[in-house]
Amino acid sequence: MTPDPLLTIERFSVVYDVEPPVEAVRDVSLELARGEILGLAGESGCGKTTLAYGVQRLLKPPAVITSGSVVFHDADGDDVEVNALDEDQMRAFRWDKVSMVFQGAMNALNPVLAIGRQLDDVFTTHRPGMSKAERRDECGRLLDVVGVGRDRLRSYPHELSGGMRQRVMIAMAMALRPQLMIMDEPTTALDVLVQREILQQISALRHELGFSVIFITHDLPLLLEISDRIAVMKDGQIVEIGAAESLYRDPQHAYTKRLLGSFPSLTGERGDFVRGAEAPASATPEEDAS
Ligand SMILES: Nc1ncnc2c1ncn2[C@@H]1O[C@H](COP(=O)(O)OP(=O)(O)OP(=O)(O)O)[C@@H](O)[C@H]1O
Ligand SMILES: [Mg+2]
Repeated sequence: MTPDPLLTIERFSVVYDVEPPVEAVRDVSLELARGEILGLAGESGCGKTTLAYGVQRLLKPPAVITSGSVVFHDADGDDVEVNALDEDQMRAFRWDKVSMVFQGAMNALNPVLAIGRQLDDVFTTHRPGMSKAERRDECGRLLDVVGVGRDRLRSYPHELSGGMRQRVMIAMAMALRPQLMIMDEPTTALDVLVQREILQQISALRHELGFSVIFITHDLPLLLEISDRIAVMKDGQIVEIGAAESLYRDPQHAYTKRLLGSFPSLTGERGDFVRGAEAPASATPEEDAS
């Protein structure tokens, strides 16, 4: 049990009703704590995006939720059963409470609008009470926060690097101060250094702003570095979940061991790559597995 849970997923299953049917998420139970960064790892097709969409109720036919529940424990004290919300409640819930940075998000900006305008649109839509000056201040602040800088408010997407565009998408996802951000491989297309820098920034921000993150990627070394806990998914199920540190030192499931073993950077001498200096160079997964 998590002392201060933000999200409780219980026995959640999703089937794509095609021929033959695909059991994309099978009986997944998971609790996410307030302020926690949870990494979700697993090979392509194991159901990561389907699970994330389920949490935001973004699933569309042929996806069918065949069992389970997703309950969001709002900071204001309400417990919200996500799949019982009507469309209006759902619109408020997305962005406001839970926001998502989609797979391939950096290409999702509108090419003909300045990024400041696109950020501004989030506020005009969701915070109609804000004045123009308040919106401008807030947009500038957000661009500062993600390291783009407010002097870029008038820039167009094509004037920014991929990393900068990614940061803009993250700024948009953070705009309404959601309690949970789900990031679905938001950085795949970026080089590793940029990727790590952005994620370290997010990790620092969640302490400052107090939000939780579910971060989805194939990149286990990266997850080990930034996550509090890691859930490993295989064939629609969570086969192992634990503190990043212990999952690295003492993986229980054969699949986790295989996943760790498939990253040479984790098994070589450069143990310092993982979670700073905390991991001694000798603690390789092979030794732990013996
Ligand atoms: N619209 C759909 N119709 C039928 N099957 C689907 C549909 N979308 C996804 N699937 C199947 O559901 C399973 C889970 O897919 P999902 O996209 O959730 O995996 P993933 O872990 O996010 O993969 P990746 O790492 O490649 O993004 C896969 O077998 C996939 O082929
Ligand atoms: Mg996916």
